[in-house]
Amino acid sequence: MKAVVCKQWGLPELLDVADISPPIPGPGQVLIEVHAAGVNFPDTLIIQRKYQVQPELPFSPGGEVAGRVKALGLGVSNWNVGDRVVGSATFGGFAQEAVIEAERVVPIPEGMDYSVAAAFVLAYGTTLHALKDRGRLKSNETLLVLGAGGGVGIAAVEIGKAMGARVIAAASDSGKLELCIAHGADAVINYTTEDLRERLKELAPNGIDVTLDPIGGERSEAAFRCMAWEGRHLVVGFAAGEVPKIALNLPLLKGASIVGVYWGNFLRRDAETTRAHMRDLFALHASGSVRPPVTRSYRMEEAGQALRDVMERRVKGKVVILTR
Ligand SMILES: NC(=O)c1ccc[n+]([C@@H]2O[C@H](COP(=O)([O-])OP(=O)(O)OC[C@H]3O[C@@H](n4cnc5c(N)ncnc54)[C@H](OP(=O)(O)O)[C@@H]3O)[C@@H](O)[C@H]2O)c1
Repeated sequence: MKAVVCKQWGLPELLDVADISPPIPGPGQVLIEVHAAGVNFPDTLIIQRKYQVQPELPFSPGGEVAGRVKALGLGVSNWNVGDRVVGSATFGGFAQEAVIEAERVVPIPEGMDYSVAAAFVLAYGTTLHALKDRGRLKSNETLLVLGAGGGVGIAAVEIGKAMGARVIAAASDSGKLELCIAHGADAVINYTTEDLRERLKELAPNGIDVTLDPIGGERSEAAFRCMAWEGRHLVVGFAAGEVPKIALNLPLLKGASIVGVYWGNFLRRDAETTRAHMRDLFALHASGSVRPPVTRSYRMEEAGQALRDVMERRVKGKVVILTR
């Protein structure tokens, strides 16, 4: 089978496409004939050995795949060969075949194509877990989404609206902000040209109830200083490259919380709730409340370009790699 292969740690340009032996599903695993693989920020980290999980070389990056079940490992009885599924792994997805734990796979609803399914699981799964389980976002609360034009960000705009919140979307350029408005944002802030804190004071004089923060860096503290009483700042990631340090007098003064979000670990600890979340998300998709924007698809030979585009902040919404 054809696969994108990382043979040495480093930048996306070092990735190769090669013919390699397909993986064999072990006990409790399924082999998936991959049609589309979602591209996510962690894929850019794992090839540079900067991610919390470090596979042995060589390996294929790619954390989420959509396709058909091709074979079943020992003890797997809840799937049939030919089922259309989407699943999340940590790596191995930028390939024509991938193995995934059977419990980390869900059926693709009728009418959803492979590209959309592959763009859905990680970003939307993380975001629902963040807003519902960790942030306890309530209807009519004000939600601030940083990096709102990215994968997790646009999911947060949509899911936040579906949960009844007023959503303020903040991002670095006007194209991303237009996408946020098209996906339901009530107000937008361009944090490259506008002062984030000043604009937040204007847009939310009573403060922000929940901030979803996938970027880190200097903007985390600016946002945190605009929290409402008992606000929740959800730490999702550090795409800006810097882990911010926030003085603990700030949460004290606001009665506010800094709350960690780690979807991969949640999934390992509570696969059942994760599956229930996916069912809820697919229902939201069927009703038209969430519509993941797949703005570009790449061939496997362009995987390096796809990851470079993510690193250079050129991606709007979600992008996928088509493997066939
Ligand atoms: N905790 C979890 O369970 C979990 C799960 C999934 C993802 N994550 C993390 O969440 C973050 C977002 O993931 P994603 O897949 O949504 O990524 P993405 O689509 O690439 O979006 C990230 C956004 O971050 C902003 N950004 C700011 N500085 C950046 C920089 N130096 N390089 C790249 N982007 C930068 C960009 O928006 P602007 O250009 O508008 O600033 C970009 O749209 C990542 O850190 C990822 O590791 C965490």
